[in-house]
Amino acid sequence: MNAFWVEDNANPYPSYDRLRAQGALVPHLLDDVPVTLVTRYDECAQVLTGNDWGHGYSAGISPFRDTVAAIPGSFVRMDPPEHGRLRGLVNKAFTPRTVADMVPLAQGVVDTLVTEGLANGSIDVLNGLAVPLAVAMIPGRLLGAPVSDAHLFRRWQLAIARGSDPDHLLSTSDIEARGAAAQECLAYFAALIAEKKANPTNDLLSELIAVEQAGDQLAEREVLGLCVLLLVAGMETSINLIGNGMLALLRDPAQLELLRARPELMASAIDEMLRYDAPTQFTIRVALSDTVVGDREFKRGDGVVVLTASASRDPLVYEDADALDITRYEGKHPARRHLGFSLGLHYCVGAPLARIEAEAAFRTLLDRAPALTLAADSVEYQPSLIHRGILSLPVKLG
Ligand code: HEM
Repeated sequence: MNAFWVEDNANPYPSYDRLRAQGALVPHLLDDVPVTLVTRYDECAQVLTGNDWGHGYSAGISPFRDTVAAIPGSFVRMDPPEHGRLRGLVNKAFTPRTVADMVPLAQGVVDTLVTEGLANGSIDVLNGLAVPLAVAMIPGRLLGAPVSDAHLFRRWQLAIARGSDPDHLLSTSDIEARGAAAQECLAYFAALIAEKKANPTNDLLSELIAVEQAGDQLAEREVLGLCVLLLVAGMETSINLIGNGMLALLRDPAQLELLRARPELMASAIDEMLRYDAPTQFTIRVALSDTVVGDREFKRGDGVVVLTASASRDPLVYEDADALDITRYEGKHPARRHLGFSLGLHYCVGAPLARIEAEAAFRTLLDRAPALTLAADSVEYQPSLIHRGILSLPVKLG
């Protein structure tokens, strides 16, 4: 495995401890680009919420060579005003009401899969539950694509997500797989958009197409880019929340039993999973003007890697930071937040959907399976740095 700032991607947390011990702001050479690693909570929060920080691609000042930014419509790497225009259009799909309407679908999918698992005595919580659930909700419900194409969505999403690590950490075959997946995915969604133009359906994609057709607010290539963004940003992360969260509970049976005994802790438990072992480990930002963080001056165009997963284990902020404690966020809203969904302008737009998926999965498994035990001696992690997720999670039920 490629070393980066993390020595062992199966367990990056000791590396984050070492980095925090070096300071809140650690110089690092990213390939040949000098950047700063931001390791502590307060400094990460300051960068994520500061007006002086953004992405700088439209101003032409970003030092990062970033494939996510190259996707048209990929507002996760945009600054205002473009960012707000695109986010506003997508945000309509994630209002409390629209998300509440998606709960019965999520619950129905989970019920069917857990029923099958109970009949077999086991379930792969990753591939047999989290993946089909994410497929049903994101390409299926939001984009109105046929769920029978699940194998394609998962393959494209994995290849593009793997390819979102810096290029110098990728093998030639990773880069080829990312390129091929992007091509296939764009061709697929171009055909789907053409179909929906002729026959609109009740989904976010049809709404975006209607906006595009109504005037100059949205270009077709942006609609296409948004499909790729939602597919990758939504599937990869919500699958890994369920995988990482379930694994954390299985490895800490006292916490698992506490959640079974006190289901009202579910919201707090999900926040704690996002703090304890986050699906997204870091993000990047660029100084949009000369600015100061902590005791350091940054010049316009300087790049930082915001190590949110390190900040979420910062002992200056969290008591017993390395322990999973599902009561940590109980009745503490608003509390000092974890950075699992980021902060500020780019705070995850899909967070409410991710929460209902995870809640349906955990609640149903705990309600219906009398006992849950890990049916593997070890788990294998994806070789990704930005995304943290396991490849499968076999669990015995009862
Ligand atoms: C547990 C699941 C999820 C996690 C951990 C997660 C994490 C994140 C993080 C950390 C960011 C901010 C990146 C930054 O600050 O640079 C983000 C943004 C975003 N997420 Fe999520 N996400 C999740 C689920 C979803 C879902 C289900 C969707 C959509 C279906 C989604 C769509 C997006 C989009 C479009 C953005 C860009 C927001 C912006 O730039 O304004 N995410 N997500």
